[in-house]
Order: sequence, then structure tokens, then C-alpha cells
Amino acid sequence: MNTQIDNLLHENRQFAPTEEFASNAVAQPSLYEEAAADRLGFWAKQARELITWETPFTKTLDWSNPPFATWFDDGTLNVAYNCLDRHVEAGNGDRVAIYWEGEPGDTREITYAQLTEEVKKAANVLTDLGIGHGDRVAIYMPMIPEAVISMLAVARIGAIHSVVFGGFSSDSLRSRIDDAEAKLVITADGGWRKGKVSSLKPAVDQALAGKDGDTQKTVEHVLVVKRGENEVDWTEGRDIWWHDVVPSASSDHTAQAFEAENPLYILYTSGTTGKPKGILHTSGGYLTQAAFTHRNVFDLHPESDVFWCTADIGWVTGHTYVVYGPLANGATQVMYEGTPESPHQGRWWEIIEKYGVSIFYAAPTAIRSFMKIGRQVPQEFDLSSIRVLGSVGEPINPEAWMWYRNVIGGGSAPIVDTWWQTETGAIMVSPLPGITATKPGSAQVALPGISITVLDESGNPVSNGNGGLLVIDEPWPAMLRGIWGDPERYKETYWEKFGDKYFAGDGARLDEDGDVWLLGRVDDVMNISGHRLSTAEIESALVANEMVAEAAVVGASDETTGQAVVAFVIIKQSHLDEAEQIADIASSLRSWVGEQIGPIARPREVFVVNELPKTRSGKIMRRLLRDLAEGREVGDTTTLADTMVMKVISDQVRS
Ligand code: WT7
Repeated sequence: MNTQIDNLLHENRQFAPTEEFASNAVAQPSLYEEAAADRLGFWAKQARELITWETPFTKTLDWSNPPFATWFDDGTLNVAYNCLDRHVEAGNGDRVAIYWEGEPGDTREITYAQLTEEVKKAANVLTDLGIGHGDRVAIYMPMIPEAVISMLAVARIGAIHSVVFGGFSSDSLRSRIDDAEAKLVITADGGWRKGKVSSLKPAVDQALAGKDGDTQKTVEHVLVVKRGENEVDWTEGRDIWWHDVVPSASSDHTAQAFEAENPLYILYTSGTTGKPKGILHTSGGYLTQAAFTHRNVFDLHPESDVFWCTADIGWVTGHTYVVYGPLANGATQVMYEGTPESPHQGRWWEIIEKYGVSIFYAAPTAIRSFMKIGRQVPQEFDLSSIRVLGSVGEPINPEAWMWYRNVIGGGSAPIVDTWWQTETGAIMVSPLPGITATKPGSAQVALPGISITVLDESGNPVSNGNGGLLVIDEPWPAMLRGIWGDPERYKETYWEKFGDKYFAGDGARLDEDGDVWLLGRVDDVMNISGHRLSTAEIESALVANEMVAEAAVVGASDETTGQAVVAFVIIKQSHLDEAEQIADIASSLRSWVGEQIGPIARPREVFVVNELPKTRSGKIMRRLLRDLAEGREVGDTTTLADTMVMKVISDQVRS
């Protein structure tokens, strides 16, 4: 690992922007100077320029009660108005907001005027269903325009959305609905994935019915979009077809303004415990940073660019760079329903050619899997429209970075490697494409107005050439405002380690130039294909299986997905006596985890072992298991209660 990192850090290729790119770029070097001279003044200026306020704010940041921040506190705005109506009022109603491409090849083209009208109708329907200011609405949808319409309709009436990724199981959905006490669920019968319809409504039914009569109590209605045409069960009085109510609803709806700190959404993400945390984002600060970063990091020229962020709306990337950033900026974007390889391996590149995508934002996992298939696939398509490439979710290795630039970016498109998190709400560390000389593998520098530092364990800044922990040392506009219903957990998780500074959970190193290299999580959080999962969450799913006595999960490095889930389980003697084949046990536990949490959590490997490595105080030493899972010599075992245990486990794993 360390030699690998050292090699990375000696990366000396650099790609400065061309003069032409630099001179036409949205972001000019003066941005850094302005922000450095007056950080809060800089953000206030961005908020005034990028956002339309109903009541202008007079205060920028209130940090008198850390870690609870308010931004633009006395201003009021309507987030949906900012993403819709104002573009129509400015004469851009005919501009395409969304080029939507269904997986089977059906398409929809939606202008800003049309999107505005749809959202107004949906907002009226939500109000009729009794949804009001502050109510929570769960959204469990495929990648169809109604997902965006739903989010904006919820925002428009000052309610709070909680989007749950469509790949999560009914159990995961249920715990999120319960935690937020949602009143309404918006879903679809199903959506297209990998050449077939994957159903969604049945998972909602199961989640609401609960197990053993444990019926969900807060949800009053389920609003269902027809997309998959699959058979679904129907609960009269509770379930409502979208097409029965939205098209016929009135499209008169005046957006009311809400406070800047009005909650906009809750988005659940994994932490170091088994229970996902509901990250809370609010309105004015979030929208300001979403719009600012989308415009400057991607060099967006809204009149001419076609932007495409491939993320699902179930993740924060989909919230900020499919919904709020692009729409606040009046951008034209592509939205695609399906998976990259359906119905053929060139699907993404075909879409880029078809719509002339000029800015493309995807995850390294996808880039690496295309790299494996080979450049002949993308080379069949005309990708000359591409002028900026983005990467997000996990570190991008220099080899994949170079492939991305050369094969997808025609050897010239700047790559912005963007570091951020569900909690940060928007991009924090990234090159700016018209300014920064980019370096393969490094996220490089904090954006203007963002202040980060790399600290050692005792809180001292590390010097160039050294590694430590990534910390954000000043509040930022899109920062999380807390964990839904759990202010104590918010303080403990992010603010206790370094006092008044935000600890991101990532390791990082500074190279000789002071550029930041992300080194992955330092806690028990894994990053699988750019998606966050906790070891504890999967362990608790495993021990919930009747065969399992104990489980330990680690994230092992994986060539394509960055990390992969590897589980070590101790099976109860009674099940071993039944002579169940070890291989069968392993494979049924893999599926079990997939059913409990969702397919992304399914372990790559499950090893059945007799013991787990523990310290004298009983703490599992995952580090040693990771060594084993990655095929390395097992590290220092002196703190184990039983120093021989790793030998026993290795023999079992390797047999
Ligand atoms: C974690 C956040 C940000 C949206 C997608 C993931 C890792 C994110 C990068 C990057 C290296 C990255 C970090 C971070 N991460 N972007 N450019 N380089 N690592 O959101 O699920 O909240 O996960 O993803 O480890 O902490 P998330």
C-alpha cells in the first residue's frame, strides 16, 4: 500500500488548460483572490448572483452555536422557483431542461416551461393529499423525470424529501420511512434495468405492511407512477396512480417563499454503526453552493452546454448534480434510466453522441470497468462534443484518469476530480478546469471559499509530503445542518475529534506542491463503487441470519469497484451439524445480505471460519482480516488475545 501511494505521489504529469479554454472559462483566477480576501463576502456575493431571493438576506453566516450553522438566515426563497419559474420568466421556457432516455430506447424531451408546469401540478396534488410545510415525503423511484418532478414539488411546498435509492431492499426502505416519519411515499410500479423491468411497488407494499403485523403507521398514501407496466397489488384508499391525479391537476401554483434554513431534504447514508444516519440539508446555503460548484467546476455555459451526470437520484450526487445544481443554473441535461451496459456496452457513449453531451460526470468504478472492456467500444462513437470530464465518489487511479482523458476526452478535455460527501452537500475539493493544471489521481485544491487542512492524529497540520486526516476548518454554505432527530450523534460523529473542525473520515496526503490526494476512509466505512456502506450495517444483517453466530466484515481493495465487501462468519454448530455445505452457506449468506440491504451490499466473498481475531478486550481486529482478504502477509498480531488465531483463520480461508 505505501509503495503504491509513494508512486502515486511522484506523479509528475500535469495538464494545464489551453489558452482558449482558460480565456473562455466561467471561473477566472480572481475567484480565489476574492474568496481569500473576504470568505463570507465571497459567499454572500455568490448567493446574491446565483439565487433569486424573495426577501434578501442581511446576515451571511451565524456560527455562534457551533456545530450548528445558519447561512443567509433572514433571507427567504423558494428552491423550486429558483430551479424552474425564474428561467421561464427570463424567456428560457423553451430551453430543454431534460433529455430523458429510457433504457429500452424510449425518450422524452422536457423544456423548462413544461417541467415548471408538471411540478406545479404535482405540488397541487401533494397539497390535496394533505402534505404541508415540514412534512416528510419518501421517494423510491427509478431514474424517470417524475423522480425529479417529485423532488421539486416537495421542495416547492416547503416539505422535506427523503429519496431512498431504488436498489435498497424493503427493510432498508422501511427503516428510512420510520426514521423520518414520512406521510407519503412516491414510487413507481417498476423501472427498466439491465434489459428488464425491476419492480419497486412491491417493496413499498412490503415495507409498509412490515413483518409479523408490524404495520407502518405514519404513511397515509402511496403515489405510484406507471413506468414498468408490471402487475402490482393495490391497497384501495391508500394507493393512488400518478396518472389519475397529476395530469388533471391545476397548473396554477404560486411558489411561496420559505426561510433560507427551511429543511430541503434528508438523505440517509452509512456511518460507523449499523443504523444509517439521516443527513439534513436546508435551502439557501445548499442551493448557493450547488449552483456555484456546478457552474464553476464544470465550466457550465448554460446556453450551449449539454451536461450529463450519470448518478442515480438516490445518492447525493443525483440530488446536487442532477436536480438542484443544473436546474438552478438553467442547464440542459441528459438523464438516463438504465445501466451503462444495456442493451449494449456502448450505451453511454451512444447517448453522448446522440445528445452532444459536452460535460460528463461519472464514477471511477464505471471508468475502470469500461477500461477493462477496451477502447474499441467508445471509439465507435463520436465523442468530440466532450469538453469537460468529472470524476466523483472514490479516488481515481492515474491509469484510469489517463484513459478517461485520452479515450473519452479526446486527449484534451480537462478532468475535474471532485471530492465531497453526502454531508458536505456539494463539491469541496476539485481543480477548476480553466485555471488548475490537473494531475492524474489528485483532487488537488479546495474550491474558493472552502477551507480545508490535513491534520495528524493530535491535530497538528501536516507539512507537504505527509499524510493525515482531512478536516474542513471553516463552515460552508451547503454543510449538513445535522442528523435527523439526533443532534448528539451529529456532534460526536463529525465535531468531537478536532474540536470545532469538521472531520470528514478520510485519510489524505499533501504532495510536494501542497495538492491533496485522497487515500480512502479511515473509519469502518467502506466505499463500494463510490457508494458508502458500513461494516457494522452488513455485520448486523449477517448476524440476523439464523445460521450465523458471529460476523466480521471488511472492505478489501478491488480492481474495478475500488473496494469490495468481504465477510468472515462463524456458523452456529447446529447448522454445521446439519452438514450444510460450506459453499452453500456462503452463497446463501451472500444473497441474504442482498435481500436485507440491497444488491450493492452483497459480499464478494463470504468465508466460513471457526474464530475471529479479537483483542483482549474483545474488539475484532478488522485490519488483520483485511490483510487476509487482500492476500497480504498478515500484519502485527501481538495485541490479539490469542496470537495463533490468525494462522487458524488463514488456513481455513486459503483451503
Ligand atoms: C466519501 C463520501 C460525493 C458523492 C459521492 C459519494 C469518497 C468522494 C471522492 C474523490 C476520493 C472520494 C470519500 C468520501 N469520495 N469523492 N473525488 N476522491 N474519494 O458520497 O456516499 O457521501 O461518500 O466518498 O471517502 O468521504 P458519499
